[in-house]
Amino acid sequence: MPRPAFLDLPPLRSVGGTVKLPGSKSISNRVLLLAALSEGTTEVRDLLDSDDTRVMLQALRQLGCGIEPLDARTLRITGLGGRAAHSPAQLFMGNAGTAMRPLTAALALMGGEFELSGVARMHERPIGDLVDALRELGCRIDYLGTPGFPPLRIAQADGLPRLRLDAPVRVRGDVSSQFLTALLMALPLVAHSREVVIEVVGELISKPYIEITLALLARFGIRLERDGWRRFTIPAGSRYRSPGVAHVEADASSASYFIAAGAIAASADGQKDLEILGVGTDSIQGDIRFVEAARAMGARITGSANSLQVGRGAWPLKAITLDCNHIPDAAMTLAVMALYAQGTTQLTNIASWRVKETDRLAAMVAELTKLGATCEAGDDFLRITPPADISSWRAATVHTYDDHRMAMCLSLAAFNPARLPVRIEDPACVAKTYPGYFDALFDVARADAADIPVLCIDGPTASGKGTLAAQVAERLGYHLLDSGALYRLTALAARDAGIPLDGAHEERLAELAATLPVRFVSDTIWLDVRDVTQAIRTEQIGMQASQVSQWPKVRAALVALQHGFRRLPGLVADGRDMGTMIFPGAPLKVYLTASAQCRAERRHKQLISKGISTTISDLRADLEARDARDMQRAAAPLKPAEDALLLDSSALTIDETVQQVLQWWQARRPFSA
Ligand code: DC
Repeated sequence: MPRPAFLDLPPLRSVGGTVKLPGSKSISNRVLLLAALSEGTTEVRDLLDSDDTRVMLQALRQLGCGIEPLDARTLRITGLGGRAAHSPAQLFMGNAGTAMRPLTAALALMGGEFELSGVARMHERPIGDLVDALRELGCRIDYLGTPGFPPLRIAQADGLPRLRLDAPVRVRGDVSSQFLTALLMALPLVAHSREVVIEVVGELISKPYIEITLALLARFGIRLERDGWRRFTIPAGSRYRSPGVAHVEADASSASYFIAAGAIAASADGQKDLEILGVGTDSIQGDIRFVEAARAMGARITGSANSLQVGRGAWPLKAITLDCNHIPDAAMTLAVMALYAQGTTQLTNIASWRVKETDRLAAMVAELTKLGATCEAGDDFLRITPPADISSWRAATVHTYDDHRMAMCLSLAAFNPARLPVRIEDPACVAKTYPGYFDALFDVARADAADIPVLCIDGPTASGKGTLAAQVAERLGYHLLDSGALYRLTALAARDAGIPLDGAHEERLAELAATLPVRFVSDTIWLDVRDVTQAIRTEQIGMQASQVSQWPKVRAALVALQHGFRRLPGLVADGRDMGTMIFPGAPLKVYLTASAQCRAERRHKQLISKGISTTISDLRADLEARDARDMQRAAAPLKPAEDALLLDSSALTIDETVQQVLQWWQARRPFSA
């Protein structure tokens, strides 16, 4: 399956409950590299599993580190501890600056032959200041493309470089703090017999990230002496030592989306505050100071060492003017909170936004403007004035620029007072740091049921609606309701309980249907503790399902269960009466048919491939009998809803039917291009 092109967020009303955040990207990749450079093994707990950590792990594996999962939350890393890295090696760094910069520095000092490359955007992200500092030291590094940018080659096949360590190593601090972080993590490798001094040239930006580096270096046995932010001394005799266990705290930047959601919509509708687990007042991450900024805008936040509680305080939020140099990533979230503030918010000292995953200043202006805000950006500032009134909000298609943070922070626009949906393009880009972001958001967010879109696909047996519905749901990122499965489950449960399927037993069948111990877990259907995914798919159960489905009390007993599938962000429901009875207000209803002959042939092919022998004519007779019963029964007979669009798939491929339905869906959505 290709990545979904977009995810439509229905208008959200409130948030409440508890969210457990994934590990911090900045800490994860630093801990991985430090563990890899240390002697001995390190158990890394609660590591983030995302694109950026995967590229780091893959590189470390190639370089010869041992990487062994101990359980779902713990990896054991066996470090190189002074051994040479496997060389030559070609290392792919994706778009992970936290892997590219420190690995370049460490490998340049260790000797060997390495090529480091990444995705196209990585090749536009600067690394020249770091390479200059390393070359000055005596390392041999060549650019393979544009000078100053990856990809690059470290060319020291003949062993360790001869380093000039008598003078301080000088590095610029005003483009990316990752250059200094890279040197701070790499130079302890060569400080065994002499001290090494690093001097920062120019104003150092994003200092909190350096704080994270220093805190983690201390955990791995390196204690630096420092003179403010200008000069760092790695004492002679420094050597990496594994702390044995390294715990990764949750990502404070990821917390910003939920802190903002809490400030905008917790305790609205009488909900309790939103609880955020995994990061709190003890955090070593600079982005935890987002809490102060959110408070300044009106959020009510209380914290403990490892958690935060957030509620709506001032409403509307208060506009602020803030120097954001200390929270460059989380500051993007303030830009979206500004949509809910009274007045103009001004974020300053954010020039580094231009060289991140995308040019975030330009991107933010473009997308906030689409939503109806008025924005102005300079070299290092952004000013946001929210839409003037409710009617100035727009249902926007938000472009995300392969930038996880654009996708996550702009999702907060779905709380807009105009109750408009928001389309997020390429939602899978959040995988860079938070693959489960949208699921986590939908877990704590509430919407009015009527605002959660349902797409109904009804039709006769073997019309292909199951396959069509599953594919459409996948493309839209929606939940799937296979309502036929509920009647099949009822039939199976009745058989197990020895209850006949006739009208005389309607009450008992209905009781059974109302209390089905069913669970849908991804593609598996559980009846109590039994996996019945296959058992309910037989022709016989299909026929019996058709029988039980004619009893009105059975149908009534299954209504609440079916309505329960209408969850964020949306639902594709297939069956016989989705459009007529269960979701009569659905914004799109499709009635899928195909000629009886064609359906019999398709079913025949399916069964043959499973090794079940039948004839086309028998199958055709069976399905015509089922059609007749489903259409003629008194309760919710199979028929197209009055407002359904008819789709005859006899001469269409599955892909063509999917395309047609998606096209109809698009035409009914309110988004401008
Ligand atoms: O879609 P299916 O073959 O799994 O459905 C099995 C039977 O369940 C079908 O013959 C009629 C009944 N059914 C129904 O009455 N209403 C629905 N919404 C879905 C299925």
